[in-house]
Amino acid sequence: LKACFRLTIPMKIKIITLFPELIKGYLQEAIIAKAIGTGLLNIEIMNLRDFSDNPYRSVDDSPMGGGDGMLLRPDILEAALLSVKNEMSHVIYLSPQGELLKSQTAKKFSESDREIVLICGRYAGVDQRFIDKHVDQEISIGDYVLSGGELAALVFIEAASRFIPGVLGKIKSAEEDSFKDGLLEAPQYTRPQDWSGMKVPEVLASGNHKKIAEWKAEQALKVTEEKRPDLLRGKK
Ligand code: ADE
Repeated sequence: LKACFRLTIPMKIKIITLFPELIKGYLQEAIIAKAIGTGLLNIEIMNLRDFSDNPYRSVDDSPMGGGDGMLLRPDILEAALLSVKNEMSHVIYLSPQGELLKSQTAKKFSESDREIVLICGRYAGVDQRFIDKHVDQEISIGDYVLSGGELAALVFIEAASRFIPGVLGKIKSAEEDSFKDGLLEAPQYTRPQDWSGMKVPEVLASGNHKKIAEWKAEQALKVTEEKRPDLLRGKK
């Protein structure tokens, strides 16, 4: 088997969350479930409440100096983290203040041997001292505020796992999806070839692979220019 198959080293992700069931539900379906089932992806979920130090299982407290909402306590987060972390762990806190998740970042993580620990916040956020002491990187999935990091963690997992060789049917398809070379994907068509008078571009039925590749490259550039000109900045 080709060396690029990681049959023995799956991508390993640990998640610390207050809503483990929410995460579990999503991981049970479709491509991610298959990746876990075939051993290409290994995911462990920890319930932050299990590390609470009180009978109410609370994990938060009010912000010092005032402010809205509650903050996750650093000592409880640390107890949860130390139960899963090792010297090879890369600790990511999902937060709207983080660097924007990009296809290239997701790919980089899928290729790394380091296991990833994802910290999902809830409420108004987490105590800054925990971030300063333990977080290697903050990642955001977009310029909006979610009520917790769980959806962001799932977005991260899905975006990264698509790049693990063998997770998608065809090894190259993740690379060929939108964002290949930083461009959007060319439009795609299936049968019927003539639908309601709208025809599939002739070149796609020509069987001429060189012409098809040229058409796709040209279209990718055109679509990107129309829909996401910002992606082209710095390319020209
Ligand atoms: N948690 C709350 N909002 C978020 C965002 N936009 N990205 C990542 N994590 C978040």
